[in-house]
Amino acid sequence: MGFGFWGRVILALFLLLQASSLWLPFLQQAEAAAATAKPNKRSMLKGRKQANGCNLFQGRWVIDPSFPLYNSSSCPFIDSEFDCQKYGRPDSLYLKYSWRPDSCNLPRFDGVDVLKRWSGKKIMFVGDSLSLNMWESLSCMLHASVPDAKTSFLRRDSISSVVFQDYGVTLLLYRTPYLVDIVKEDVGRVLKLDSIQAGKAWLGMDVLVFNSWHWWTHKGDSQAWDLIQDGATRYQDMDRLVAFYKGLTTWGRWVDLNVDPTKTKVFFQGISPTHYLGKEWNQPKKNCNGESEPLAGSMYPGGAPPAVDVVNRVLSRIKVPVYLLDITTLSQLRKDAHPAGYSGEHSGTDCSHWCLPGLPDTWNQLMYAALLTM
Ligand SMILES: *[C@@H]1O[C@H](CO)[C@@H](O)[C@H](O)[C@H]1NC(C)=O
Repeated sequence: MGFGFWGRVILALFLLLQASSLWLPFLQQAEAAAATAKPNKRSMLKGRKQANGCNLFQGRWVIDPSFPLYNSSSCPFIDSEFDCQKYGRPDSLYLKYSWRPDSCNLPRFDGVDVLKRWSGKKIMFVGDSLSLNMWESLSCMLHASVPDAKTSFLRRDSISSVVFQDYGVTLLLYRTPYLVDIVKEDVGRVLKLDSIQAGKAWLGMDVLVFNSWHWWTHKGDSQAWDLIQDGATRYQDMDRLVAFYKGLTTWGRWVDLNVDPTKTKVFFQGISPTHYLGKEWNQPKKNCNGESEPLAGSMYPGGAPPAVDVVNRVLSRIKVPVYLLDITTLSQLRKDAHPAGYSGEHSGTDCSHWCLPGLPDTWNQLMYAALLTM
């Protein structure tokens, strides 16, 4: 997972070269024009600030006795990997934290209001298991608001769904960890940095919530591809931040070509941090194991992961407004919110996903707050 100093240097050089004329012979005209164009102010601002000037993502964690928003034992949609209470997590303070922005109040999540607003609509989460985490969280939050409402639930490898039948609200999950395609060919599994055939399944949605990053770092057995293809060239491997930048750029083009912003609202679920390296919060011998409280304050000592730069850069170029759920820093403060050893699926220590109820409930609360302002 280590993208330290050198990862940043390589990415910085790559971005610099791309923006300079040195590389022009290697770039398509459109790409070169986009690289030197000014960031699109509209889509940048949307993710950063609300109309009333409140940055929802700048704030701190406080204890709120009314939390959590649901009990995992009464939510029918939780995977065992997120059900920390069921798998013996002994502490419960982590369930009580609520996010407080510095300059405004986060509206309380009103599930009935959401179901009424979304009546007849389809909401799709697209990405890796962090999308699964957020989709299950939202399903549980809505279910807790209308515990007697009729639902149907389908959990499959590629597409999963929860339907609130009385309201005609469908929450879908499309699993595609890299957003771009992996194609099985004679040479093996090819990660195609410039292709999103899978995107056909994302059309016709009212809300799309995308996320990708964690799988780009995977090597060895957990790497899901054998070769990377960029244009006509195939590689055994490449710098993973650069690969992510290229793949996410392809995704940005897909959004511009396929999303009608008058019909579909698009969110990008910001980079979700891990807590395997205690040195990031000045406890070098630790990871998330045994952590029972968030970090105080608003700053994460370890700084932002470099993938955040890639997301900001790509989002700044998309013409369709994409709302960045800028959840990285607020999630970095929650070293206490991972399943660690209390997971029904992961062996070892999971400092990458999040317990439910827990942090993804706040991500959904923030998305709700954002939707209220749109
Ligand atoms: C959730 O509900 C179960 C069963 O009613 C109860 O035993 C448990 O204490 C509840 N958990 C929390 C955190 O409130």
